[in-house]
Amino acid sequence: LASLEVDLSSIEPGNTVTVKWRGKPVFVRHRTEEDIAKANDVHLNELRDPEEDSARAKNPEWLVVVGVCTHLGCVPLPNAGDYGGWFCPCHGSHYDISGRVRKGPAPYNLEVPEYSFIEESKLLIG
Ligand code: FES
Repeated sequence: LASLEVDLSSIEPGNTVTVKWRGKPVFVRHRTEEDIAKANDVHLNELRDPEEDSARAKNPEWLVVVGVCTHLGCVPLPNAGDYGGWFCPCHGSHYDISGRVRKGPAPYNLEVPEYSFIEESKLLIG
């Protein structure tokens, strides 16, 4: 299947679920107000791969990123690292709550897949 439907209604704020899409893990994070504020409180010149949070999250409450570290492809751990997002245990890359790389060897932010909201609580990835 090329596209994947995800029911968002059971994902509490502050939680991240991992789904499988085209053989890869995809992280779906229900962001809290605090997460959103944190994601926006970053200057682009602090970022290795400069991207506004608003360019990554269509709806600020939801972050959808491919769970594959852009260094050598390990799966980063949620709610970990120095920036409140993800930590890749393989070689120590830290990603923030927008999935942007902040520290470590990863060259790029976590990839945002194609997605849309088909209903308020239904996400379509792909
Ligand atoms: Fe993630 Fe190397 S694969 S830091």
